[in-house]
Amino acid sequence: MAPMGMRDDIASVLLSEEQIATRVAELGAAITRDYSGRDLLILFVLKGALIFVADLIRKIDIQVRLDFMVVSSYGARTETSGSVRIVTDMRSDVRGQHVLIVEDIIDSGLTLTEIIAHLRVREPASIEVCTLLNKPSRRQVELNVRYAGFDIPDQFVVGYCLDFDERYRNLPYIGVLRPELYA
Ligand code: IMP
Ligand code: MG
Repeated sequence: MAPMGMRDDIASVLLSEEQIATRVAELGAAITRDYSGRDLLILFVLKGALIFVADLIRKIDIQVRLDFMVVSSYGARTETSGSVRIVTDMRSDVRGQHVLIVEDIIDSGLTLTEIIAHLRVREPASIEVCTLLNKPSRRQVELNVRYAGFDIPDQFVVGYCLDFDERYRNLPYIGVLRPELYA
């Protein structure tokens, strides 16, 4: 029997490459409009937001600077442990800067709440959030999300740089992982 491929672990495609590309272009246009005439510092969160930010910045038609943070992941789990660890901090001085945090997905909201608190003490001019995916039904803390690509149901998804235990990041679409793989 042939070995099962990566795509065999996907129960269904939630968002196709075309759907993602269309929405990313819309988000880029909105950011271009909203930040025109201002300097924008885009702070993306590794590793999950890597592909999203790469596509998004090419749809933003104003000057931007890029920086990143690395935060601890779930590991081989599908739910947050509740404690968020900043593994690598950003290097830019954010004082007086307009900062847009770019994330792959907001689930409980704990990760972003931690990042925002971490930034706020450094007194940026503004902090907004842009996430590709949003699971509003899972939120544990209130969060103001300026740009959200797609609201999705409470299902664990992979692909387009979202992972389960560091795998599936290279799937070009976003798919629902077969639940028996992590149950
Ligand atoms: P939160 O702190 O619970 O909001 O979790 C946010 C982080 O959890 C994201 O940056 C992802 O790394 C991860 N995450 C949440 N839901 C999913 C999912 O459905 N698939 C893959 N990663 C997820
Ligand atoms: Mg992540």
